[in-house]
Order: sequence, then C-alpha cells, then structure tokens
Amino acid sequence: MPLVKMSPLLAKAKEGKYAVGSFSVANMEMVLGVLKAVEETKSPAILQIAEVRLKQSPLEVIGPLMVAAAKNCSMPVAVHFDHGKTFEKIGQALDIGFTSVMFDGSHLPFEENAQTTAKVNELAKKYNADCEGEIGCVGGSEDGSENIAINCTAPDEAKKFAELSNVDALAVAIGNAHGNYKQTPKLRFDILEQTASMVDVPLVLHGGTGILPDDFRKCIQLGIHKINIATATFDSVELNARNAYENGEIKGYYDLQAAEVEGAYKNAMKHIEIFGCAGKGTL
Ligand code: 13P
Repeated sequence: MPLVKMSPLLAKAKEGKYAVGSFSVANMEMVLGVLKAVEETKSPAILQIAEVRLKQSPLEVIGPLMVAAAKNCSMPVAVHFDHGKTFEKIGQALDIGFTSVMFDGSHLPFEENAQTTAKVNELAKKYNADCEGEIGCVGGSEDGSENIAINCTAPDEAKKFAELSNVDALAVAIGNAHGNYKQTPKLRFDILEQTASMVDVPLVLHGGTGILPDDFRKCIQLGIHKINIATATFDSVELNARNAYENGEIKGYYDLQAAEVEGAYKNAMKHIEIFGCAGKGTL
C-alpha cells in the first residue's frame, strides 16, 4: 500500500464511525513500533511530528524516514506535519513528501487564523496534500514548554473557520490538553456534538494521552475521526526500556532498541483497539 493522504482515511473513518490514530514519533524505533501494530491489526494510521520537536529530531532526517516507512507498510499510512508554526518548515515537510500539514493558529485572532490557515492550505494543495487547522485552543503545548489555557471551540466560529480556510480536518478544543492531565479531563461533549452538527469536515482530538477509553468512544460517536497521541507513546517507550533494564533483559544496545520498539508497539496496539480502526486498513 502506498503512502496515502489523510483525507480518504478520515472520510472512511467518518463513514464507519471509528477514528484513525495519529501517532507522534521522535525516532526510528517509534516509527517501527507503531507500524508493527498497524500491520498486525490491519489498521490505517497517521505518523506525525510537531514543529516544536524538530530540535530533537531534525525534519530533514526524520521526515524522509517517516515517508519511507509509510511507503514500506502494507497498510495505508499518511505522514502528517503536526502543529506547523512557520511557512518555512511546513514547506520543507511538503517537499519531503508529507501528505498533510497542520497550521496551528489557535493563538491568533479569528480572522488571522482563518486567513493564514487558508494560505497554508493553498500551499498544501500545490503538493496535492491535505491541511488541518485548529479553532479554539487545546490546552498546554505539544512539547510541554508552554502552559496555554484551554479555550473551548465556539461551534459557530468552527463553521465559519471551516468555510473560510477550506481545511480537510479541523482540531477542536473541548477541554482537552497536551501532555499528562493532572486530573481526568471533563470533556465538553455538548460542544463537540454541536460543532459536528454544523461542520462537515472530520474533527480532530488533540491531547489524546490520558483520555479515558469510554470518553474516546463517545468522542468518536459524536464526530471525532482523527486522534493525536504523543506523550503516551514517549512514556510507553521510556517505561518499557526502564522495565527491561530492571528485569535484567538488556545486555546490550540492541536489547534496548527492541525494548523501545516494543514500547511504541504496545501503546499503538492499545489505542488502535479503543479507536475501533483494527481491520479497517483497506481503502
Ligand atoms: P498528547 O501528548 O497529550 O498525547 O497530545 C498529542 C497531540 O495532540 C499532538 O498534537
């Protein structure tokens, strides 16, 4: 199966009432672990990396790796640039072959967010790629460096934003936040339901780490079809390696490498099951 765009994956997820996992990756081990779960469960998936993470994983190195791994997978996999901030890096991701990009203008005034997202979308379309925008403000920041307050999406603004920007996927803020939650989040299902009734494009849930399985399922029923998972992957990789050390299973580097792949695999397996996308890997 070739590298695919995000939009047909999300259209099929909307029709079948499930969600596609969009897994953040930082190295080859995470890519291999996620795709092992994808192959085993016959699921579609999205591999993503956020602009703030490029200081640890340079785009010119990890980007081609992500694209090559997606091309090599027997299931449909899209490669997504998450939380794009600058035209420079968004353009670089598109040049490398990413099949979708997000522009995160959630901190900007409404008009500026809509106009800039529309420009990013125009650029993406020159590459035949998809574009995601965000309306309202998901809490925290992708790498935990900023403590951004949650600002729940106003459904009428979401409708206007989708029309102005013409995005292929729209991230909403319903009480969700990036990173580990201090308390279990109380998601605003009423806002999600109202937004989904007014907006046709598939909706995206950021801040997937720590959301309860039943809350994920309810979000999916109400219109979420792409779910972003980052911290849970990083934590699972680290924990799996630590446990392997403590159990005396690591005798050398390649045991550590296998433990990292396994950590990413276990986390992806868990979320694929909750999201209901196992067995949906045919277009
Ligand atoms: P978490 O780190 O909370 O899983 O959030 C991931 C995310 O939304 C990436 O865009």
